[in-house]
Amino acid sequence: MSDSRIQNAALRGKIMSADDAAAFVNPGDNVGVSGFTGSGHPKEVPQALARRIEAAAGRGETFRVGLLTGASTAPECDGVLFQVNGVAFRTPYQSDPDCRNRINAGEADYVDVHLSHVAQNAAWGHYGKLDVALIEITAILDDGRLVPSTAIGNNQTWLDLADRVILEVNAAQSARLEGMHDIYSVGLPPHRKPIPVSATADRVGEPYLRVDPKKVVAVVETNCLDRDTKFSEPDENSRRIAGHILDFLQHEVKKGRIPANLLPLQSGVGNVANAVMAGLNDGPYENLTAYTEVLQDGMLDMIRSGKLVCASATAVSFSAKALTDFNANIDEYRKRIILRPQEVSNHPEVIRRLGIISMNGMLEADIYGNVNSTHVLGSRMMNGLGGSGDFARNAYLSIFMTPSTAKGGALSCIVPMVAHVDHTEHDVQVLVTEHGLADLRGLAPRQRARRVIDKCADPRFRPALDDYLARAEKGANGKQTPHLLGEAFNWHLRALRGEPM
Ligand code: COA
Repeated sequence: MSDSRIQNAALRGKIMSADDAAAFVNPGDNVGVSGFTGSGHPKEVPQALARRIEAAAGRGETFRVGLLTGASTAPECDGVLFQVNGVAFRTPYQSDPDCRNRINAGEADYVDVHLSHVAQNAAWGHYGKLDVALIEITAILDDGRLVPSTAIGNNQTWLDLADRVILEVNAAQSARLEGMHDIYSVGLPPHRKPIPVSATADRVGEPYLRVDPKKVVAVVETNCLDRDTKFSEPDENSRRIAGHILDFLQHEVKKGRIPANLLPLQSGVGNVANAVMAGLNDGPYENLTAYTEVLQDGMLDMIRSGKLVCASATAVSFSAKALTDFNANIDEYRKRIILRPQEVSNHPEVIRRLGIISMNGMLEADIYGNVNSTHVLGSRMMNGLGGSGDFARNAYLSIFMTPSTAKGGALSCIVPMVAHVDHTEHDVQVLVTEHGLADLRGLAPRQRARRVIDKCADPRFRPALDDYLARAEKGANGKQTPHLLGEAFNWHLRALRGEPM
């Protein structure tokens, strides 16, 4: 790699191998890494660190670290470190299978927290001292400012808090990312001021990260693409869910509750979310905007088609094909995409001000509208709640979606009572499955239950849900939100025993 990516002479003097850089991480350290949904994470130092950890284990020594990120990373970061059981503590959102297995085996402490809260929790010291920041960037300017990579996440916070900083300068990331970012510090109480974002396109900060050069102990040159995030063609259920949402939005426009170009969109991770974007791209809309946390293929398609005029996020997460297009046309995309710290992309104040239409996946919902996004059958962590709570509570329209059943139809995703609550009934306005959409706004709990069962439950499970509700209405100790506490979790218990729900 040429020196042109590292223009600052002092920092050029810190260039070293990933193995040498990893030697700056000590057992017990807290390491704040870049990375958000498989993009912008460090690619080589984590692998070198995993080798050190494995070597230590071979000598009978314990070497584990705390790992703080933006959100999920990729096999060469979370994956390698969890494979060697090198992570004692992890926060926030993750989606790596090795990481998930260690968490569910009780071998790593996992703090699942709203993504907008992570930076302030770290600044307040709730995760202990931050020893090392390990941040992927695309370039270092002559004056030491850093050009960010494909994810911002908590990078500026890690750079500010850490004692030691390791920078990975990744030549595989487009140098023309420069200018796409908008780094703005929210600060801490009592010094916080209103965040001056009043439209998705507003730029309020500067396009560079800053670091105290004295803290930089190593600069490592890498040349490795982000994870190829695979999106499958939307299946029939995803298309039907997307169809219900599109009909609903059209209805809201007709009612005059939202403008013809809708309100800024937030779209969660996964194929269903991508299918909704594909539906919007084919729909009658113009001049759409997005204020979201991660930009996937679907939104890139919409920018290319001209339907989406501006998208604000904290990261991009693309398939290999979309990444190639993104890099080839980056000068055009830079006019339409803004990447911000996750504290800003997910900030309640901005979300409430802009009036977001928020659409997220879930594992299950109950008849009253409480949503479980994270815990399979109550106790096993799937990924984490990510930014879904940041958006759901503060959005103008908070929509949760899932196929009505899981595991080949054996499990109902509409249950009497969710086995874990990530989003309470108070934060959930619309539930959608392939069977229909339940608009719960303005409904009292028993009305909500009727609508959720009628619109969203799989017809095979409706009689049992009807029966539960009818008996609860008779037998509960009150009529506001009737439950039979002795049997509310029977559906999950049967599933745990491997019996039909
Ligand atoms: N009970 C038990 N298991 C269930 C289930 C249920 N009710 N619903 C789904 N599952 C299982 C599926 O069978 C699948 O299991 P597998 O991995 O063994 O095949 C797994 O959970 C994922 O289900 P899938 O339908 O493929 O989900 P998805 O890709 O649409 O993702 C979430 C759904 C909830 C996991 C995902 O949206 C998520 O992590 N959300 C939380 C974070 C979030 O919302 N982020 C966006 C904020 S901006």
